[in-house]
Amino acid sequence: MSKGIKIVTIGGGSSYTPELIEGFIKRYDELPVRELWLVDIEAGKEKLEIVGNLAKRMVAKAGVPMEIHLTLDRREALKGADFVTTQFRVGLLDARAKDERIPLKYNVIGQETNGPGGLFKGLRTIPIILDICKDIEELCPNAWLINFTNPAGMVTEAVLRHSNIKKVVGLCNVPIGMRMGIAKALKVEPERVHVDFAGLNHMVYGLNVYLDGVSVMDQVIEAMADPENAMTMKNISGLSWEPDFIKGVGVIPCGYHRYYYKTGEMLEEEHEKAAAEGTRAEVVQALEKDLFELYKDPNLDIKPPQLEKRGGAYYSDAACNLINSIYNDKRDIQPVNTRNNGAIASIEDDSAVEVNCIITKEGPKPIAVGDLPVAVRGLVQQIKSFERVAAEAAVTGDYKKAVLALTINPLVQSDKLAKQIVDEMLEAHKEHLPQFFKKVEA
Ligand code: G6P
Repeated sequence: MSKGIKIVTIGGGSSYTPELIEGFIKRYDELPVRELWLVDIEAGKEKLEIVGNLAKRMVAKAGVPMEIHLTLDRREALKGADFVTTQFRVGLLDARAKDERIPLKYNVIGQETNGPGGLFKGLRTIPIILDICKDIEELCPNAWLINFTNPAGMVTEAVLRHSNIKKVVGLCNVPIGMRMGIAKALKVEPERVHVDFAGLNHMVYGLNVYLDGVSVMDQVIEAMADPENAMTMKNISGLSWEPDFIKGVGVIPCGYHRYYYKTGEMLEEEHEKAAAEGTRAEVVQALEKDLFELYKDPNLDIKPPQLEKRGGAYYSDAACNLINSIYNDKRDIQPVNTRNNGAIASIEDDSAVEVNCIITKEGPKPIAVGDLPVAVRGLVQQIKSFERVAAEAAVTGDYKKAVLALTINPLVQSDKLAKQIVDEMLEAHKEHLPQFFKKVEA
């Protein structure tokens, strides 16, 4: 890697790409990205060109010798890559809108990565990521796969269990956002705050918080119980926590936990929002339209601040810090999705977990936390079962497994309901779920 790094970004036409470019520019001195290949599919061609041209302008303005390549040929791009990042959305935002709208008809949470929406996003995504894994094996076997594609936990689980790729890390911006939110509540700089993260993707808890090396957990729990500090992200309602619950549970939940601990209120809000302004995907569709209009401006050569209206804040920090630490063997601590290897005692060793790791050139080394507190252990295990069964359904196209996965999911209250939702969503997403519609040979 001494001659500089080759990075391939699959789903390069994403509106988030300028985040990534900004991150690589900022770190160029220690992370010399020589080639960045942005890859997309035919349907994303126009977006790829717009975003790619903005990327080229950003790099030119920064004066760094990073070549930006745009292509629809994934295999061509992958040859000899050092890192492959994935950030694609099968079926684009239209598919996400269906994931959000259809469950609501059944009075069930409709969300990008949780409940039926999460299941179907996984069913659409996993076969594609496994195809990418095969290409990586053949064309750049030494590359690290850094996955951002949601549902990131389920996708990491699928890669670990159903591909030959071992060098995979799943990434999310939620832990960074939590650390920032905690620092804000403590009124200190985030650099002084350390959080012991453990759990699963979008189901991660802060088990302990340290300020300058001293535990301040009691103070943070107290702060989180105050509605003023209800941490959330742009895409999730900031409904405040019941103070007695937060004080009782004794760990810090992430924004997504609201779907599980406040299901009724979140559902009510989703219904209201869907009727008033549209579901999150529909809001994001409008936001994206505006963003791409901005990106087209030939005078724009920085990441526009409007991108901050999306939920992916700090996404570039998460990705670039991880790549930087692997490349430079920094051995710093970052929360990532990786093979558990015994770090969380209540989860199988070979399952994907989101946990603090020491990031080395050989990859993330998870830091042991022992058992999760009994108050949260059951939910985490239940979601892990959901993720595993869902990944199996995605790989095999086994209808029964899809129904089972959704029945296990705590956001769906009955097997009959699960089946009804699966039936309607399979039909709605038919074109992206060929594994469920295989013709039986006569
Ligand atoms: C957060 C989550 C991501 C998710 C995003 C949605 O960043 O961690 O996994 O994709 O929010 O944001 P959006 O603006 O698309 O609703």
